Amino acid sequence: MFVNNMSLKFDARPQNESFARSVVGAFCVCCNPTVDVINDIKTAISEAVTNCIVHGYENQKNGEILIEATIADNTLKVKISDYGKGIVNIPQALEDFYTTREDEDRSGLGFTIMKSFMDSLEVESSLGCGTTVTMTKRLL
Ligand SMILES: Nc1ncnc2c1ncn2[C@@H]1O[C@H](COP(=O)(O)OP(=O)(O)OP(=O)(O)O)[C@@H](O)[C@H]1O
Ligand SMILES: [Mg+2]
Repeated sequence: MFVNNMSLKFDARPQNESFARSVVGAFCVCCNPTVDVINDIKTAISEAVTNCIVHGYENQKNGEILIEATIADNTLKVKISDYGKGIVNIPQALEDFYTTREDEDRSGLGFTIMKSFMDSLEVESSLGCGTTVTMTKRLL
């Protein structure tokens, strides 16, 4: 079976959001997915990375984000991790329109978008230690 792995660690800065989404998109090209599938994946990666920057590190500039991706059996599995403040209540965070940053004009739809654009979404978090979002998407 064809298996392919990559990992990418970068500073939690808004400038790196498009870098991260492009890298994951390019990584998937080995399976010849449609442009629509690549765009769904890029959108989900953007939402996850933005959450790390805005919520995990509360826009401070000294955090790191780790992306680990595996392609096996024509399916992408991607994990996005930060080492920031963590999520108090995960089921509540996953609700449509729930946000802790109304002040920043957030709409609370990031996880909703990740869920609908990807095939699966799992969130693990520990207060003060960080958050890992794991998503899968069939590429073919
Ligand atoms: N990496 C993270 N670290 C800490 N808290 C997070 C993280 N990701 C999400 N959250 C929490 O989950 C809530 C919901 O996230 P979600 O992405 O759905 O909405 P949002 O980021 O608030 O708004 P939007 O994504 O629409 O701009 C956030 O408001 C925040 O409280
Ligand atoms: Mg968000």
